[in-house]
Amino acid sequence: VSSAVRVIGFGMGPQHITPEAAEALRSCDYVVAASKGAADPLLAVRRTICEAYGVELVAVADPERDRMDPTDYAGAVRDWHDARVEAYRAVVGARGGTAGFLVWGDPSLYDSTIRIVAQLGDYDVVPGISAPQLLAARHRMVLHDVGAPVHVTTGRRLPDDIAAGQTNLVVMLPSEATLGLLADLADWSIWWGANLGAPSEQLVAGRAGDVHDAIRTARTAAKAEAGWVMDLWLLRAPTR
Ligand SMILES: C[S@@+](CC[C@H](N)C(=O)[O-])C[C@H]1O[C@@H](n2cnc3c(N)ncnc32)[C@H](O)[C@@H]1O
Repeated sequence: VSSAVRVIGFGMGPQHITPEAAEALRSCDYVVAASKGAADPLLAVRRTICEAYGVELVAVADPERDRMDPTDYAGAVRDWHDARVEAYRAVVGARGGTAGFLVWGDPSLYDSTIRIVAQLGDYDVVPGISAPQLLAARHRMVLHDVGAPVHVTTGRRLPDDIAAGQTNLVVMLPSEATLGLLADLADWSIWWGANLGAPSEQLVAGRAGDVHDAIRTARTAAKAEAGWVMDLWLLRAPTR
């Protein structure tokens, strides 16, 4: 059966679907979505979008990710990707036609979809609004000083990146442990946001030493309201 694959970024929700993404969605025979169970809130957003554009959603159960081996993170991710490739290949191979893969934010940032569908054959990519873009817009700012760089990283890597001399960082996938680092960065500035684009959105900005408690409180509030929380930071060293 011949098939085509389209990777479509949908930003932080239905309000961010560009005309280009809408056109791509309408061209799909169905949309494949990973499901982490019936109550998966991110699956619910994809379902709303598919209904709005009249395209069938095919939920594929997400293979279990083995988080148990911290010594082989790369290996665990690889195995998980392989399992996802096989699950998607089975669906796309059986159905044929044009399959859409809806990606949260933009497919270029911390998302496996492109790496996975590249193993299925030919594909194209439609961009979406990413979380760092929405964070910058909400705080009405530029992500870097004039002519200066911004380093995009993860909470996991943050300590090493700061040790290596980075002074202006977008921090994605932060955890409770990442928040704990703020105690040692009291004079840095942080612009923080959670659940951006959702009704449960929270924003906090200020000197890290002054606002880290407010961030914890706001993070808890976002999670209580939505049942999930995704947050990110812009973190900047004090000017000397
Ligand atoms: C797996 S990455 C996906 C990023 C996505 N592809 C993008 O373009 O933004 C998930 C991380 O993105 C950030 N993120 C995604 N959506 C967010 C939102 N609505 N509010 C705040 N942060 C978000 C958080 O740092 C979260 O841990």
